[in-house]
Amino acid sequence: MGLIDCLLVFLIACLTLKSSFVVGSDPSPLQNFCVAIDESNHEAVYVNGKFCKNPKNVTADDFYLSGFDIPSNTSNPFRSNTTLGTVDQIPGLNTLGISVFRADLKPKGIIPVHGHPRGSEMIVVMEGCLYVGFVTSDPNNRLMAKQLKPGDVFVFPPGLVHFLYNDGDTDAVVYAAANSQNPDITTTRGFRNVPVEVLSKSFKAERKVIEEIIKGISIPLIRDLCVAINDLKDAVLVNGKLCKDPSLVTTNDFFLPGFDKPGNTSNAFGSGMTPATIDQIPGLNGLGISLVRIDFAPKVYVNGKFCKNPKLVTPNDFYLSGFDKPGNTSNSFGYNATLGTVDQLPGLNTLGIAMVRADYAPQGLAPMHSHPRGSEVIIVIQGCVYVGFVTSDPENRLIAKELKTGDVFAIPPGLIHFTYNVGDTNATTLAASNSQNSDFLSTRIFQHIPVEILAKSYNVDEKVIEVILEAWKNNDVDGD
Ligand SMILES: *[C@@H]1O[C@H](CO)[C@@H](O)[C@H](O)[C@H]1NC(C)=O
Ligand SMILES: *[C@@H]1O[C@H](CO)[C@@H](O)[C@H](O)[C@H]1NC(C)=O
Ligand SMILES: *[C@@H]1O[C@H](CO)[C@@H](O)[C@H](O)[C@H]1NC(C)=O
Ligand SMILES: *[C@@H]1O[C@H](CO)[C@@H](O)[C@H](O)[C@H]1NC(C)=O
Ligand SMILES: *[C@@H]1O[C@H](CO)[C@@H](O)[C@H](O)[C@H]1NC(C)=O
Ligand SMILES: *[C@@H]1O[C@H](CO)[C@@H](O)[C@H](O)[C@H]1NC(C)=O
Ligand SMILES: *[C@@H]1O[C@H](CO)[C@@H](O)[C@H](O)[C@H]1NC(C)=O
Repeated sequence: MGLIDCLLVFLIACLTLKSSFVVGSDPSPLQNFCVAIDESNHEAVYVNGKFCKNPKNVTADDFYLSGFDIPSNTSNPFRSNTTLGTVDQIPGLNTLGISVFRADLKPKGIIPVHGHPRGSEMIVVMEGCLYVGFVTSDPNNRLMAKQLKPGDVFVFPPGLVHFLYNDGDTDAVVYAAANSQNPDITTTRGFRNVPVEVLSKSFKAERKVIEEIIKGISIPLIRDLCVAINDLKDAVLVNGKLCKDPSLVTTNDFFLPGFDKPGNTSNAFGSGMTPATIDQIPGLNGLGISLVRIDFAPKVYVNGKFCKNPKLVTPNDFYLSGFDKPGNTSNSFGYNATLGTVDQLPGLNTLGIAMVRADYAPQGLAPMHSHPRGSEVIIVIQGCVYVGFVTSDPENRLIAKELKTGDVFAIPPGLIHFTYNVGDTNATTLAASNSQNSDFLSTRIFQHIPVEILAKSYNVDEKVIEVILEAWKNNDVDGD
């Protein structure tokens, strides 16, 4: 493929991504769910890249995966391994725009430098100590890195190159979520397939040096990790890195003019939008290029929050601690949610992902609620919970399942769901959502609807509604 073709593919990709609701993530679904099915099945319906199973045949197991409590085999050169919870393992994730992972790293183990073409990633350290980081885009290429301990949370913006390194003396365990049903991986391994002359010119290095490097990066990567993209065509879509040739540098120049000047902040918002990006190439947002834009505008109003001046951004903006501590469950629901949303973790702004730790006393309940934006994936850290959701009218099917430690369950966006601790012990879950803000609708919304309307809506006497509303006034819990 010629460089001009590369450029065209790149631009088309930008434009087609414009319609997705959040940077670099999957398009939002148009139905309750579309459980992925083997393409050879004749009952299948084709949506968003995978065939869908006939909804009548969908069961709770389509949203379910077990084994997230089991360490994977790390006997390989990287001393690390990843257990996947993507659409390939959980067919119900198809079109839901979210996935989860478990990573195990031995001491001195590394998840080597890589990027995800789609999807922001959020990690929680369960055990061990890690040094993690990502590098911002050209031309600043700032390293945002931090030492993490158990309970710490860190965020990797979409498309940016990042790594995880176990620099401690003990095994490390990390749970991660990405806001794509399959974020895919890109690594320098793809360089193997680029002509040596191109690489040599690109990196201004002699052929010999390039050949040496290629030998180094050709050791088999962790197979599970390498869902990857090995061909030039796809690699170009990420950061333009594989096509770094003079004519592609022009592409970068195409993005840069105007970004070196702060926007004009003399207005009511005190914010300055640097004009070029959104207006002239609207789809750039979809590739996480809003970060590039933010690099050069001192204060820009995006998706509901002001942005910090990028020069003042520190690794701590992507960091939160305390996810190892249980919330206090002494309340009427026996349930408590510890939030890791944009409110606690400012770096999540525009990244389209959030995490919540939930604790349940025995018989504790995360009462029925829904998230207007965002699919959710729940990982059971300890205990035994009964979790379920109800599909939309007219079927209103209950899709529910009892889960034990290490089990994973997916919840489609907007559907009403609950989690109930059915065990004798405390339970803990980790939920990831593909929205930066886990806004939710609980029974509290009914407090604001006139009794008359509710009575008519539910076809009951107003007295019944009043009794229910009175009971719900005692709702003292924030949802997950
Ligand atoms: C799906 O369900 C129908 C009945 O609703 C059944 O006849 C059919 O065999 C099922 N297909 C599969 C693949 O299970
Ligand atoms: C990763 O772990 C799984 C499960 O333990 C194992 O089957 C697989 O071979 C491992 N991969 C590598 C590259 O070690
Ligand atoms: C881990 O993987 C290595 C290399 O593939 C293999 O020799 C070893 O038996 C595996 N260990 C377990 C516990 O499966
Ligand atoms: C910034 O905007 C204000 C108000 O629109 C205008 O008066 C001012 O000249 C602008 N400054 C620059 C440097 O363009
Ligand atoms: C949840 O736990 C936190 C920390 O223990 C506590 O401050 C908060 O009041 C609890 N919330 C509820 C609703 O019980
Ligand atoms: C948990 O909350 C209850 C009720 O608010 C309070 O009495 C208790 O002291 C709290 N426990 C802890 C450990 O903070
Ligand atoms: C359950 O959690 C509560 C509050 O965090 C704690 O006081 C109690 O000891 C825990 N029970 C068990 C069996 O771990």
